[in-house]
Amino acid sequence: MNPGPSEIAPLNPSGKIALKSKLWAVGGGKGGIGKSVVSLNLAYWLTKFRQNVVLVDADLGGANLHTLLGIKYVKHTLADYLNKRVKSLDEIAIPTAIKGLRLICGASDIVGLANPNYMRKQKLLKALQGLEADHLILDLGAGTDYNTLDFFLSCAYKIVVITPQPTSMQNGYGFIKSALFRSIRRTFANNTMLMPLIDRATDHNNEKVISSINELIDAFAQVSPEHATKLKDIINDFHLYLIVNLVKSERDRNATAVIKTVVQKYLNLERVGLLGAIPYDPQIETAIGRMKPALMSGTDRQSALGFYELVYNLIKHGDQLENELLNIAP
Ligand SMILES: Nc1ncnc2c1ncn2[C@@H]1O[C@H](COP(=O)(O)OP(=O)(O)OP(=O)(O)O)[C@@H](O)[C@H]1O
Ligand SMILES: [Mg+2]
Repeated sequence: MNPGPSEIAPLNPSGKIALKSKLWAVGGGKGGIGKSVVSLNLAYWLTKFRQNVVLVDADLGGANLHTLLGIKYVKHTLADYLNKRVKSLDEIAIPTAIKGLRLICGASDIVGLANPNYMRKQKLLKALQGLEADHLILDLGAGTDYNTLDFFLSCAYKIVVITPQPTSMQNGYGFIKSALFRSIRRTFANNTMLMPLIDRATDHNNEKVISSINELIDAFAQVSPEHATKLKDIINDFHLYLIVNLVKSERDRNATAVIKTVVQKYLNLERVGLLGAIPYDPQIETAIGRMKPALMSGTDRQSALGFYELVYNLIKHGDQLENELLNIAP
């Protein structure tokens, strides 16, 4: 049995979690499924384990994470950094009412820069990693545009939020598939023999459709065995965590296990961790409706316990999860 939130103490004398990277992404295809609520509460509970966290609103189209923290007026956003109005990210990482938590507000007001190119995004991520923090949590926008997928792929810890609704589960699967194929396309972008094969695997209207990852691997092998091996490596390296939000019944909790089975079967993804389930909690809706922080902190609330347990498991089993899922070379 896990200790309750009131008994929280750092798990090692330094109080640091032994994770090898500090970049987290919270994504999931559909809008309104709780990506921001999950990002915020994940960050909050990490601070309770005495971690310093920077929460980044990486929704370059419709930034609104600050409203979930009850912040009405935002002085600086990512746009100030991208437009070079400020010199460092530190200037726009604003303290919040929660000790140990800073927030970088999203840049939905920028024109043109809402679509930074790949190099620019990598530069931004590098600068973010330079911030003094134990963890950086990127709250991603809805959909599967390249910005969202590139941020997702660049983070060591990739969290996909789904809800138990069949459409949301389909969207979650679609998001994972899009991210995997974005990674595959980036790797083979210059190969004119392989790119048409990748197109056939993603375009279901193609009359010569490639309908599974195994078929794609076979097609690659016919071009060259090395490329087939490379493709298998990309698939083996792809790892993610799943969270189901808005859970209303015991049955709903199985949604992540279902997605795990489906991505194993159709995308050959083996390294999928189930992080937990967050119950539907009307207080979250009420708090957001009143522009109050949508933080589930009371120990009497199931949603708070859901978030707490999720972070506890990550911390307690962090090393083990990394070994199983990330396999990052020391
Ligand atoms: N566990 C929960 N219990 C009750 N309501 C919730 C829960 N999680 C999210 N919500 C509700 O769903 C709404 C959408 O949540 P949130 O803004 O986190 O979604 P999102 O996936 O980030 O959406 P977007 O893609 O538009 O950014 C919230 O305003 C809140 O009302
Ligand atoms: Mg959001």
